[in-house]
Amino acid sequence: MRLDKLLEQEKIGSKRKIRAMIRSKQVTVDGQVIMDESLNVDAALQDIFVGDVKIQHETHVYYMLNKPQGVVTAVKDIQHQTVIDLIRAEDQRVGLYPIGRLDRDTEGLLLITDNGQLGYQLLLPHKKVSKRYEVIVNDMLTEFDCRSFTEGIVFSDGKKCKPAELVILSSEKGQSHAYLDITEGKFHQVKKMFLSVGKKVIYLKRLSMGPIQLDQTLGLGEYRSLNQEELQTLLPYFTIHKKEKRVEYEI
Ligand code: URA
Repeated sequence: MRLDKLLEQEKIGSKRKIRAMIRSKQVTVDGQVIMDESLNVDAALQDIFVGDVKIQHETHVYYMLNKPQGVVTAVKDIQHQTVIDLIRAEDQRVGLYPIGRLDRDTEGLLLITDNGQLGYQLLLPHKKVSKRYEVIVNDMLTEFDCRSFTEGIVFSDGKKCKPAELVILSSEKGQSHAYLDITEGKFHQVKKMFLSVGKKVIYLKRLSMGPIQLDQTLGLGEYRSLNQEELQTLLPYFTIHKKEKRVEYEI
């Protein structure tokens, strides 16, 4: 949220008074004097002071869910249970939504928030947010496959993927186990990448998204709020540069 809007919401003063306070260097964010009233800030993550008064503002919620199979990544669905249905009544908020999507049969880390800006920033293609998946496929994986992933898989429709890192954990004729790190979010991307090298994904789980790792103590279908340490690692994604607002993102 813009700094001036936040201070207005917190009833610090009229628009004019707030602007004057900012211009006269009375407002600090994380210890730095801020003179730009349009700066995007989050009082849940940053220390915002007007003079000696700290702005205490319960803004957004941030959950990590260990998504189980069979649940759709949507806010509402008339047929299936959604990831938002897994959030208990007391933790529900207006505008809660999942950041990015996992297929119905994919498990693992899904971030859920009511902060629209965070999702927007994490999904911007040029931010190249890295995502790690644990994958089981139905055939052998080889060093040749690793090279194909590093060079950039090309789908049958000509779409080229960015270089990805494949780490083979075990490789057998009927089943192989690997980690895959990708930095984009094309539709069914991981499954299509493996299909391009002739393998079918039979199990898929997301282990991380950007700096956030799935808490392995969460059972399938369980979630928890991100802790302060995790939120701090997301701070770069709360900074909005004006020119980024025009860039489209993929879900
Ligand atoms: N890639 C896929 O194919 N499916 C997912 O759920 C996520 C990434």
